[in-house]
Amino acid sequence: MALVFTTTLLSFLLLVSSLGYLANAKTHNHDFVVQQTNIKRLCKTHNSITVNGQFPGPTLEVNNGDTLVIHVVNKARYNVTIHWHGVRQITTGWADGPEFITQCPIRPGGSYTYRFTISGQEGTLWWHAHSSWLRATVYGAIVIHPKLGDSYPFPKPKRDSVIALGEWWDANPIDVIREATRTGAAPNVSDAYTINGQPGDLYSCSSKDTVIVPIDSGETNLIRVINAALNQQLFFTIANHKLTVVGADASYVKPFTTSVLMLGPGQTTDVLIKADQAPGRYYIAARAYASAQGAPFDNTTTTAILEYKTATCTAAKCATSKPIMPPLPAYNDTATATAFTTSFRSPRKVMVPTEIDDSLFITAGLGINQCPPKTRARNCQGPNGTRFTASMNNVSFVLPSNFSLLQAHQQRVPGVFTTDFPAKPPVKFDYTGNVSQSLWQPSRGTKVYKLKYGARVQIVLQGTNIFTAENHPIHLHGYDFYILAEGFGNFNPKTDTAKFNLVDPPLRNTVSLPVKGWAVIRFVADNPGAWIMHCHLDVHIGWGLAMVFLVDNGIGPMQTLEKPPPDLPVC
Ligand code: C2O
Repeated sequence: MALVFTTTLLSFLLLVSSLGYLANAKTHNHDFVVQQTNIKRLCKTHNSITVNGQFPGPTLEVNNGDTLVIHVVNKARYNVTIHWHGVRQITTGWADGPEFITQCPIRPGGSYTYRFTISGQEGTLWWHAHSSWLRATVYGAIVIHPKLGDSYPFPKPKRDSVIALGEWWDANPIDVIREATRTGAAPNVSDAYTINGQPGDLYSCSSKDTVIVPIDSGETNLIRVINAALNQQLFFTIANHKLTVVGADASYVKPFTTSVLMLGPGQTTDVLIKADQAPGRYYIAARAYASAQGAPFDNTTTTAILEYKTATCTAAKCATSKPIMPPLPAYNDTATATAFTTSFRSPRKVMVPTEIDDSLFITAGLGINQCPPKTRARNCQGPNGTRFTASMNNVSFVLPSNFSLLQAHQQRVPGVFTTDFPAKPPVKFDYTGNVSQSLWQPSRGTKVYKLKYGARVQIVLQGTNIFTAENHPIHLHGYDFYILAEGFGNFNPKTDTAKFNLVDPPLRNTVSLPVKGWAVIRFVADNPGAWIMHCHLDVHIGWGLAMVFLVDNGIGPMQTLEKPPPDLPVC
């Protein structure tokens, strides 16, 4: 009797605990209302588009393995979509978000529910609007903690802070890009950089709202830095404190110590910081890494304050004692940017695909469209009466307008795209030399590159010096990739393959393609869908610096794209 009771109790307890285990993976429901909100910055109020009236938008905090269900309602006057930057979206491609790639935009008055699961990713990602330039104010952090019961690969930090770097225009960003699209010229550069939405002490009408990041003497905190700027790579530093990099793009890295970070738009970097300095106030600062020669850029510096709790100052004392300002690299300090980007390693040996099924060589850079003489005055205000453009392998990517690519692919709608994106540029040239002007004008098209499920892919990304060379943050949706190597000049298959790190290359979703240089990435196409790869400088996406991979289904439900959700917006 007692024995029966004990076994029943035991199995009951086992059942409860296994249910408890399953229940560990949570589902988080959120409402995102995209709406107009008055925001005052740089002495002026703008009617900006936000999520839930917040700028930056809400931080989504989850554990690895959790599911997110986000109901987006568009109460703004623009089309909108939301992209969950870096989330792998395995089989849930309909929730990825780039407009006309995986969905048609959510029209004003419309809504759409994004459902997806975070799996195998830990660290920091972020979400942002993926239509026009709305992401200037429509973005927020995604903080992914280890699964309940799992630990960080470093001592648990005392505190955890998000630092989202942004860019602010003293104008409506949508008007800025519309004007540039009309004229063909480069859009106006921003008027401020921001940290968690605030420009900081070095701008007018801003210092009373400067962001304070608290720290206590002796503790080690985790700072999650996100570059959410539209068009600018940024250097980031904190006065007198060393930064230990432990993660990037929601993958852990082999820890290394530095005083300066460089992040391209799209990238995240998790750092540990130890409060080992005299209690006081230290500036956290970011400013441009601008690699394009002669091109205008926003040359201002955003700041926040790292404040030791024992040093919290009264208004009177604050006025007299300024926080300590750190040195920052010069805007054109490519050596510092390179030293940083080449320091990344995976924490341990990883499985890099060695046999390659699809080997691509993709040039990435700007271009110029000549104009017929009579349209010049109005629409051709780019260099010497031309229009700016950009391309990959000489194809300037054009978004479809009546179907999303994923829909057209899944429903076999003809005429929306062609499958002839070339695996190499149409002509070989000295990519980083003095490129003949006859090669400056790309063709236009909605071309995709098809991949079989499970294909092992290598891409040599090659920057060009067409019009001007610059660093491009190249982002691939739906995947993380290994970065095997990077370098300057033209990629040389004879000598540069020897530089490939096949042991512990970092896993990321955005690679900084060096100015006048190259980078090599590899991934396995284990996620069916339509995945855009593009430069994360928004000005370049608009000009066509993008292409799309169409990845087939594999076998069984784990390798098959889900059915489109019933509320998927149609065009
Ligand atoms: Cu962070 Cu296609 O974007």
